[in-house]
Amino acid sequence: MKLQGEKTGTFFEKSKRVIPHGVNSNFRYWGEDDTLIIKKGEGAYVWDMDDKRYIDYRLGFGPVILGHSYQPVVERVQEALQGGNLFAWTTPYEVSVAERITRICNVDKVRLTNTGTEATMHALRIARAYTGREKFIKFEGQYHGMADYFMFSTASSYRGGLGSRRNPIPQPNTSGIPKALNQYVITLPFNDFEGLERTVKANWGDLAAIFTEPVLGNAAGIMPQPGFLEKIRELCDEYGIVMLFDEVKTGFRVSRGGAQEYFGIQADLITYAKAMGNGFPIAAIAGKEDVMMTVEPGSLAHGGTYTGNVVGAAAADKTLEILETQPILDTINKRGKALMTGITDILTEAGIPHYITGVPSMFGILLGKDEEPSDFRDYLAGDGDLYEEISMGLNYRGIQPDSDGREPWFLCYSLSETDVDETLNAFNDAVKDAKEK
Ligand SMILES: Cc1ncc(COP(=O)(O)O)c(C=O)c1O
Repeated sequence: MKLQGEKTGTFFEKSKRVIPHGVNSNFRYWGEDDTLIIKKGEGAYVWDMDDKRYIDYRLGFGPVILGHSYQPVVERVQEALQGGNLFAWTTPYEVSVAERITRICNVDKVRLTNTGTEATMHALRIARAYTGREKFIKFEGQYHGMADYFMFSTASSYRGGLGSRRNPIPQPNTSGIPKALNQYVITLPFNDFEGLERTVKANWGDLAAIFTEPVLGNAAGIMPQPGFLEKIRELCDEYGIVMLFDEVKTGFRVSRGGAQEYFGIQADLITYAKAMGNGFPIAAIAGKEDVMMTVEPGSLAHGGTYTGNVVGAAAADKTLEILETQPILDTINKRGKALMTGITDILTEAGIPHYITGVPSMFGILLGKDEEPSDFRDYLAGDGDLYEEISMGLNYRGIQPDSDGREPWFLCYSLSETDVDETLNAFNDAVKDAKEK
């Protein structure tokens, strides 16, 4: 079967003539028959070139928290644009966004960027400048954007190259990364208390930062075990290391104040992006006064032509205003819980071992195993092929989670109870089909 209808297929061919593989991000390439071209989105839905409607659980890889084309955000951007869009000066929108983030996330200072990649890249530089050290720890299966420093042992890396749990090997997941960069990154399995402590004790004099996605938004939403984030906090305090939460996916989603609020832990530096602008390009680096104030004209560089541009800042201003003043996440969590329960019931009924990871606004489905995965290696031991079979069955039926189980299901405020019912009915059918194969 083929996901592309005729018009979508034709447009994809046209796209490939001028864009490598027809996509502007490799993650969007689903193969020759299943890569879509999207004509429009509204609320919880997107439509392809053949006017096939999908209930969207990818939401642009997470950002569209309110829904596509959400009018209050669109109107604020349109209104702001009437007064120009780029000035090489600070605008009131930027100040308002920074004020909102300090209030919502309990941080002292904020700098804006355009993408998550820029935010993590700058955050690493700040941590290095603050500590005078060069190395950092990252956990396997976590993704911190496209910068060379971070593209090691992500969810796309080759399993066989990760090394032993006790002595992991940083595995580059792309060609084009200078070998010299291996020396700056130490990779570890997530939730490994003993490995983390041993590694920090042996390397603390070189360690600028411990980076973590507090919930593994790029590896099926694997959760931290109780005490693990606290352990990172404790080690960072003891050894003068910057604790860095990469909240690009969790920020403003897992709870209003992100994972810091959800788990009750304050990091030193935090990166935000995705949900803060409902899909408009805007991101932020935020954190404690002393760490953030390392940024200084002439001493520690941070900037960019488009940082804080009017479109992104106005979109974030409105999105954050809505998230701050309306019970948006309550609705999303209610729908998410209904989906998690419904999916659990269907899989149990079908006799498929499973574990639902993550939180209702962003959850993953592990198949073939019924224990909670503690790290990315555990996740890989599950049945990824069965997941792909079921998720493609859903896509054929007009329900669109990512075909790759490492990408969680994302929910938006526009998703209705009827959409949840339609999704569960399709899930039931897709599971039946997959079992018959
Ligand atoms: C946790 C995390 N950090 C950083 C990034 C990079 O963000 P961007 O794609 O906006 O550069 C992503 C993107 O998915 C992410 O999930």
